[in-house]
Amino acid sequence: APVTYIDVWKDENFTMGVFVLKPGSKIPLHDHPQMYGLIKVIYGSCAVKSFSIKKTSNGSSVDLSFQTPIQVCRHPTVNATTSSDVITLTPDVANFHEISTLETPIAFFDVLFPPYNDEEERSCNYYKEIKNDNLTETELVKIDAPVEYWTNSEVYRGPTI
Ligand SMILES: [Fe+2]
Repeated sequence: APVTYIDVWKDENFTMGVFVLKPGSKIPLHDHPQMYGLIKVIYGSCAVKSFSIKKTSNGSSVDLSFQTPIQVCRHPTVNATTSSDVITLTPDVANFHEISTLETPIAFFDVLFPPYNDEEERSCNYYKEIKNDNLTETELVKIDAPVEYWTNSEVYRGPTI
């Protein structure tokens, strides 16, 4: 698989794990609805593109159905290495992101809280950017999970938690 996931911890409050990406692979653009997240690169370096949803003027919730473009603000792409600070996301800030390898494999430690849960409307959705010349604002549209992206898993063999 292009991406391997090592499950470190999972309970009803949060998940912790390590993603390992082969060179040339990426975790495609996706979201974390109503969730917070932390990413710490522990091997190699990667490019992180992220987007924040634009608030609607009347504060109503955003339509995340297929076909409806979502208005977002683009953050500058971050090249993250092992010496970079933790990258954070919140329900409102940088909740949509794509993580790409450069020329080497990468590994990053990932914490999500609360966890993804389809029954509580926290499903992982995939998106593509609709071409837009505006550097700071753009639109995303929901897509099916890209066929070139799949994961396998490895057992965690680190210190007991
Ligand atoms: Fe993510």
